[in-house]
Amino acid sequence: MKYNNKNYTSLWYKNGVVKIIDQTLLPENFKIIDLTTTDDIINAIKTMKVRGAPLIGVAGAFGVYFAFKEYNGEDDHQKLNNKIIELKNSRPTAVNLQFAVDLVYDHALNTNYENPEEDALDKANELFDSEIKACKRIGEHGFKILNKLEVKEYINLLTHCNAGWLATVDYGTASSPVFEAAYRGLDIHVWVDETRPRNQGGKLTAWEYFHEDIPHTIITDNAGGHLMRNGEVDIVITGADRIALNGDTANKIGTYLKALAAYDNKIPFYIAAPISTIDFNMKSGKDIPIEIRSENEIKFSGNTPLNHTLSPALNHGFDVTPARLITGFITEKGIFTPEQLKELKNGKKQTSIT
Ligand code: MRU
Repeated sequence: MKYNNKNYTSLWYKNGVVKIIDQTLLPENFKIIDLTTTDDIINAIKTMKVRGAPLIGVAGAFGVYFAFKEYNGEDDHQKLNNKIIELKNSRPTAVNLQFAVDLVYDHALNTNYENPEEDALDKANELFDSEIKACKRIGEHGFKILNKLEVKEYINLLTHCNAGWLATVDYGTASSPVFEAAYRGLDIHVWVDETRPRNQGGKLTAWEYFHEDIPHTIITDNAGGHLMRNGEVDIVITGADRIALNGDTANKIGTYLKALAAYDNKIPFYIAAPISTIDFNMKSGKDIPIEIRSENEIKFSGNTPLNHTLSPALNHGFDVTPARLITGFITEKGIFTPEQLKELKNGKKQTSIT
């Protein structure tokens, strides 16, 4: 998607180097940095220079390639294995990271042991391409929902956090239907939740929409309920970090409250996510690991105190929205109710609700 009228993906691979846009510096600075080792990838994920469930999956996939490059001696298997585990655990909640690392690692180990490094790179590149295509398809399916909404003048969509192109490789998940709608001429405006404490909505989602000329307004995290009660929200779409088999969904902290408010106001609440975000091994949301991040993210912005810094703070990164509050899942394979998700397991034939 566009930044200053030039097209970018949020990460790309070229000649042994993974290039990323450093998301901790946006929107003030647009800086591309080079990652060349597994530790670079792990650090970029931990410090959230790369973030967003599908994107950390793709970054992890290239991390496996670096690991095979770094541990290629006959006695290195244990070290390689340990590094892969460290990579997989660099953030706990988004299942895409574990999915992608396992995918590439298993492929490289099982394909042709002559050159696992090349096999890992091929698989990482394949995942890169397939995540872009999945996000584009999510946009096309999501467009069908937006196109059917009965609205006054234009569609008012509310979103939380950043599930845009920065969080994926391109197009985004929750943002992809918005881009598709705008491209096909629907009038749309997005309420962008600020998303405390790191402000991924106010800093990243707003930056993306600004550079794509999508009408949008940043709101505080507490404003959504008020707007919903006043009839100023037609639909809510967010991304996801992990979807359990029963449809319970982990996403950025605050998503649950938006789903509750949407339910109370009879506003459709959709999750947009690629199939790689569904954890088919997890029966319900109660087992999803919730990341707890540093209390300093709540107390400070950079070095500036925001709250009483001597008080303790508790910083859950995610919450779980129960399936009963979710109208449907917009995936690359179509739109599904929570009950239909299990049909997607093992690529079983599925019937989309649209
Ligand atoms: O902690 P973050 O910034 O990685 O959290 C990201 C989110 O919660 C996104 O909404 C989610 O990963 C979906 S990304 C398409």
